Amino acid sequence: MEKTFIMIKPEAVNNKKQGEIIDLLLKNRFEVVEMRQFRFTDGEARRFYDIHEGKPFFEDLVSYITSGPVVGLHLRKEHAVRVLRTLVGPTDPADAAPGTIRYMYGTDLQRNAVHASDSPESAEKELAIVFPED
Ligand code: CMP
Repeated sequence: MEKTFIMIKPEAVNNKKQGEIIDLLLKNRFEVVEMRQFRFTDGEARRFYDIHEGKPFFEDLVSYITSGPVVGLHLRKEHAVRVLRTLVGPTDPADAAPGTIRYMYGTDLQRNAVHASDSPESAEKELAIVFPED
């Protein structure tokens, strides 16, 4: 079994879509190992998204992701990283296919409903930031 991480972003939590998104994950047979609603500090957000540091959208990304509560889930499933990325869809909801989370709940490139780890290594790093006591 592989582990991965998904984070439901502030606008989806604000719009009360976290229940529907978690239901979709369960229907797709992801096992929820751990789940936490929290608000990123500025420093945690910068560490979480450090691969994007220096990119033109980085400062907006940090201020957006710290603007309200998010819900982080540690998930487990066979080929979890790949299967979750397929279920989530591409970064820009405008490119997303019907049935994907970003098609259903995303608004634009920044408010794209969720973040999902892009590799097992990213999942390890992101899980360590969100669930530091593990
Ligand atoms: P996420 O999967 O959380 O990873 C980084 C986020 O940066 C991405 O989703 C988008 O919400 C956001 N972002 C904003 N602008 C861009 C851009 N031009 N290219 C990629 N990601 C962007």
